[in-house]
Amino acid sequence: MFRSILVTGGCGFIGANFVRLLLERGHAKIVVLDKLTYAGRLENLAGVDVPIVVGDITNLELVRHVCKTHNIDLIVNFAAETHVDQSILNPFVFTQTNVQGTHVLLEVARELGIRFHQISTDEVYGTIDGDHHSLETDPLRPRSPYSASKAAGDQLVQSYHVTYGLDTTISRGSNNVGAYQFLEKVVPLFTTNAILDLPLPVYGDGLQMRDYTHVLDHCTGILAILEHGKIGEVYNVGAGATISNLEMLEILLETVQKPKSLIRHVADRAGHDKRYSVNVQKLQQLGWNAQFSPRAAIATAAKWYLEHPNYWQPVRQSASFKAYYERQYANRLEAAA
Ligand SMILES: NC(=O)c1ccc[n+]([C@@H]2O[C@H](COP(=O)([O-])OP(=O)(O)OC[C@H]3O[C@@H](n4cnc5c(N)ncnc54)[C@H](O)[C@@H]3O)[C@@H](O)[C@H]2O)c1
Repeated sequence: MFRSILVTGGCGFIGANFVRLLLERGHAKIVVLDKLTYAGRLENLAGVDVPIVVGDITNLELVRHVCKTHNIDLIVNFAAETHVDQSILNPFVFTQTNVQGTHVLLEVARELGIRFHQISTDEVYGTIDGDHHSLETDPLRPRSPYSASKAAGDQLVQSYHVTYGLDTTISRGSNNVGAYQFLEKVVPLFTTNAILDLPLPVYGDGLQMRDYTHVLDHCTGILAILEHGKIGEVYNVGAGATISNLEMLEILLETVQKPKSLIRHVADRAGHDKRYSVNVQKLQQLGWNAQFSPRAAIATAAKWYLEHPNYWQPVRQSASFKAYYERQYANRLEAAA
């Protein structure tokens, strides 16, 4: 359907899964642009034969050059700073990449007449009460520097559609799990902690509700939007069911056969959102359905880390990961002891 697709952030977790899916579905020409931050790993595209340009989406000259050279007619923007805890520690890089970087991509898309799809998140809706499921028309109430920067990116995308008539779509995905996720995120972190018999430092009471979605369901949802979605629209993507973080831990502990006694309740994240849940009916009307329940998504993801120690051991042993883990969890674990 598209001649040549630029996948930004294609060496990250979801981007790499999306590139693999595109290839499986026979989309021949794909180019990846990725800065290879601490979260971007060439290993995520091991065995995949696509050109990878190492560079920053905030670099307008570079983005224009890549789009012209490869005759790009679709940009799918996964490139982002993505971890809420990192956004609390170091917020400025989030506005640079998630706002300024998105703006640069939009400007090049406008100049060259390129369709633009933005990968956003359910976190832009903020924490939601009761039994509400966020609709695409709900107000954006982001509460962390991460979600605020993603909400700003969404609004820039909408403004380019309205003001310049750029062909845009946005997907707002819920918490993804699956292969190739960076170890700072909760499911790979706690799965590998459990495999190593380390405590699992769960924030607060662990009763935060999340719609855990398998990354493959997210990727097929994005494809459905690209193929059948209406230009200018926003679509939620999720499993359509929520479970608490404690239930998530129980599923992954069961999968790797480790005891619940590894769970430690530690000081909560500042401004921690209590509940996210998205209404996915609009995407379902395009003929898409999630294939994994949250339980199946978490169990499948945990099994993948159990079976791929060569993927995650080098990260866990790296000085940068150890420094992050120490800064984020050492005091919390000590205080909880
Ligand atoms: N992980 C989730 O649960 C989730 C859920 C919903 C939406 N999202 C969104 O999906 C997208 C991808 O998330 P992910 O979990 O794969 O993230 P990730 O952190 O695993 O990967 C992000 C990728 O972007 C690259 N990158 C970062 N800054 C860049 C820059 N300035 N220029 C070029 N490349 C840059 C990194 O090197 C990395 O490869 C993000 O936009 C995120 O907001 C994630």
